[in-house]
Amino acid sequence: MITFPEGFLWGAATAAYQIEGAAREDGRVPSIWDTFSHTPGKVRDGHTGDVACDHYHRYAEDVALMRELGLRAYRFSIAWPRFGTPGFDFYDRLLDALLEAGITPVATLYHWDLPQSLQDRGGWLDRDTAHRFAEYAAGAYERLGDRVATWTTLNEPWVSAFVGHGSGRHAPGVSDPAAAFTAAHHLMVAHGLAVQALRAAGARSVSITLNLAPVLGDEEPARLVDGLCNRIFLDPLLRGAYPEDVLAHLRRFTDVKLDDLETIHQPIDVLGVNYYSPKHVRTDPESPGHPEHPGTEGIAFLPPEGPVTAMGWCIHPECLESLLVRLSREYPGTPLLITENGAAYEDTVTADDRVHDTDRVAFLDAHLRAAHAAIAQGADLRGYFVWSLLDNFEWAHGYHKRFGLVYVDYDTQRRIRKDSFHWYGDVIAANGLR
Ligand code: FCB
Repeated sequence: MITFPEGFLWGAATAAYQIEGAAREDGRVPSIWDTFSHTPGKVRDGHTGDVACDHYHRYAEDVALMRELGLRAYRFSIAWPRFGTPGFDFYDRLLDALLEAGITPVATLYHWDLPQSLQDRGGWLDRDTAHRFAEYAAGAYERLGDRVATWTTLNEPWVSAFVGHGSGRHAPGVSDPAAAFTAAHHLMVAHGLAVQALRAAGARSVSITLNLAPVLGDEEPARLVDGLCNRIFLDPLLRGAYPEDVLAHLRRFTDVKLDDLETIHQPIDVLGVNYYSPKHVRTDPESPGHPEHPGTEGIAFLPPEGPVTAMGWCIHPECLESLLVRLSREYPGTPLLITENGAAYEDTVTADDRVHDTDRVAFLDAHLRAAHAAIAQGADLRGYFVWSLLDNFEWAHGYHKRFGLVYVDYDTQRRIRKDSFHWYGDVIAANGLR
């Protein structure tokens, strides 16, 4: 029996645009993901988040599922496009339902749904957006702060910056290396200002969630790419400085105001880690590099080896273990939460109305064992959130990729508990694995 520490926070995660739907209800304004998903060719099969899982109307049923699962915590995001509208009351209803079910709410303020009006004024390329974000954070705290246990400022700023502005695979669909670095910097400024605003308003637990990917392969390119996706956020946020190599690299494209580092470097109470898969690189003078890693000409990004999920992401639980151990050694003193981990598979509903997702159970089982091994080596890991509670709108892949513990039939909005749902319920009840 593998047992987790007492009070370990067993959770599941979702995000507003991916599940809520009700895109034009109760005053919600358009976000960059509405614009992007409604632009032909951007999202597979023209899928949009207009309806998604209709969670805005079905939250009570979904919270009942969480309660049945035995979730201790639920990580969701608040839609900035509902801030200041009658629709913001939705979060009152959701929080009341969660507390009534005994589930600890962990709220993310920004999971990629920037109001389009702010994008029209420059979005993350304009530092004023960081100030608007801090105002929104303070306002959200004022409305909901009595019920949210932990506030997370941003989800995966690397994706917002480098997928949103480097490759343009995500909204707002820009592809310009200078823009990607500028956005990354302004996102961190937004985080710092929001932490200050949340603390001034009375918040006791504040965090940020980063997607961190161990980089495997030849030493020199691996070091550079590690700098461009991991240390570029970890060092400013947790140490108050850009790493020298990263700063020299980004200055090839743009400049950033180093005075901001003081604002960026705010004490946080917990670091959220989203982990799916490592990256694998090799020196290759012929390679054009990768637009999500600007300036990586001469570096080949290798296709995954071994088993992969339906996303084509390689399955490498050992990297979760080494990542957690590394964070606890190189950035000591900050408790960790795995705020996302999970896998997409081609789920099918069988004649007996079940989803036998054995691959997903094996994936989660292996990653939990890896997390446990990291704790045994001293990592201060406080909890684990499965991505995701529900199948949902998987960004540029639309509804084609299913990550849920619960299957969603998008024609009827019927929820079907997958085998992984029952398995995870047992893990939570036992506080561990057999
Ligand atoms: C992460 C996102 C989340 C989901 C998973 C699969 O990058 O934070 O919204 O799409 O990937």
